[in-house]
Amino acid sequence: MEGRVEILNNADYAGRMAEIEKSSQISPWSDRLIRECFAPNSRSNVLGYFDENCCLRGFLVYSVLLPESELENISVEPSVQDQGIGTSLMKSYCDILERLECEKSFLEVRVSNDRAIHLYSKFGYFKNGVRKKYYPCADGTREDAILMMLERSKK
Ligand SMILES: CC(C)(COP(=O)(O)OP(=O)(O)OC[C@H]1O[C@@H](n2cnc3c(N)ncnc32)[C@H](O)[C@@H]1OP(=O)(O)O)[C@@H](O)C(=O)NCCC(=O)NCCS
Repeated sequence: MEGRVEILNNADYAGRMAEIEKSSQISPWSDRLIRECFAPNSRSNVLGYFDENCCLRGFLVYSVLLPESELENISVEPSVQDQGIGTSLMKSYCDILERLECEKSFLEVRVSNDRAIHLYSKFGYFKNGVRKKYYPCADGTREDAILMMLERSKK
């Protein structure tokens, strides 16, 4: 898909982000949590992916506390998944990590989320732990989280 990644600096797109989040995630972030990303004291940063019609189709939330960063969330609208949007968002995020000379990035992902695990592995993340029964499931059970980490290559 032809589009572009931009930094979202204010809550103008929070409603649209909440729509994408609810349609794509098993246990979505609340509207409040999404709005809090844009609060003045928030440590979260948001990247948005806009399609050729300037419609927000996906977003990525991260925080940085040098020398580390956490990838807090990534969501792409279901109708346009598997078209490279997640890859574009991850590339922009990894470019930022490189620019900031961030040494490590951490994330958590459901053990069953093969697509996301594939995406993270493509950017060099590797598994470095498991958090048992971390995520709630729709049927009332719980699912393990895989912890993944990216280490900046020392040049
Ligand atoms: C995970 C997610 C962000 C990826 O975004 P996306 O735009 O679909 O990703 P892309 O199209 O850039 O890349 C998807 C990759 O996964 C691969 N893939 C698709 N289905 C897969 C599967 N079942 N198993 C393994 N890999 C798979 C694709 O082939 C592609 O890999 P490639 O680039 O090597 O060909 C998106 O699917 C999403 O929002 N999912 C729901 C929310 C979510 O799970 N977020 C992550 C929470 S940790």
